[in-house]
Amino acid sequence: MSREPTLPTSLTPVSQSHLRLLDQRLLPTSEVYLDCKKVADVIVAIQQLSVRGAPAIGLAAAFGLLLEMDDYPDDAGIIRERLTAEGQALISARPTAVNLSWAVNAMLSFAASHAANLGAPGWRDRLFGAALELLEADRSACWRIGEIGADLVRTHPRVLTHCNAGSLAVSAYGTALAPIYRAHSLGAPVSVWVDETRPLLQGSRLTAFELMAHQVPCQLITDNMAAHVMASGAVDMVLVGADRVAANGDTANKIGTLGVAVLAKHYGLPFYVACPWSTIDLETTSGADIVIETRDAEEVRTIQGVASAPDSVPVYNPAFDVTDAALISGFITERGLIKAPFFETLREASQLD
Ligand code: MRU
Repeated sequence: MSREPTLPTSLTPVSQSHLRLLDQRLLPTSEVYLDCKKVADVIVAIQQLSVRGAPAIGLAAAFGLLLEMDDYPDDAGIIRERLTAEGQALISARPTAVNLSWAVNAMLSFAASHAANLGAPGWRDRLFGAALELLEADRSACWRIGEIGADLVRTHPRVLTHCNAGSLAVSAYGTALAPIYRAHSLGAPVSVWVDETRPLLQGSRLTAFELMAHQVPCQLITDNMAAHVMASGAVDMVLVGADRVAANGDTANKIGTLGVAVLAKHYGLPFYVACPWSTIDLETTSGADIVIETRDAEEVRTIQGVASAPDSVPVYNPAFDVTDAALISGFITERGLIKAPFFETLREASQLD
């Protein structure tokens, strides 16, 4: 993995009033960008998964929050009122990934702690600077995750992953894919089983695309093939990302992750979760308290817009599931490799800031 990613970037803050987002719905066939100038543009992009992946939606929201600042008067009270209202609207766009509220709240805290300067000359630049710092912090967290997780991948080079936790889902490098890229660049004989990830195909459209761009050997499978591949002895470890990790280690990630974790347990394979600290939510006690987003039925009745079921068949479409902490071998974070008992070790790592 070189320090410079070779893939299209998921989000580019062109200026304080202009956020450019890669429309990930159209990958891998087209590279199209959305030019967001209004907070509502970013909310729609998050809801429609043009920008997706927990850290990326958090960063999009941090920059999205600032897009309409030119319309605000230089009045600290009004600025904070507007930011708080826009922040709430952004947080409501999707419920499961904690990175969304984490990033908005980080921006609101910055505004609160600089309240005295909020209407003073340069206030817009200062807020934009705070969002750029979040972007940079995510880049370095992902780089560290790659370095910390690379040894695991070197000793377990045949990895199965689910969904997309690569550079498209973050600022750069990825979370689950970062250790894979790092180990590959260090010469390890890495190969990746890529779960297709129905209904929206983040595995086949995005992860396979990323791995091919980095020339990491990979094979695409449909989700129902994972058990067969594991049973045949062709997998050394499972490595996935996360949308929210509760205080006890229960982890929400893309629907289908739980099934993969159960399978890994059955076949005696290590199951690791890679995520930045912004995904750890010590305020949420356990997985039972995580809100799981349910999405439109059409996503299940169709595949890439083509009908694959009767028009009106009733559908259940949860976008995420929760993997029990007992199924997780460890968390690869920028604060180190965290092992059970997670309630204690996550709390200890939270003191490391
Ligand atoms: O619905 P999505 O595509 O936003 O879901 C993404 C995932 O579940 C990822 O695995 C997770 O956000 C980690 S991204 C580093």
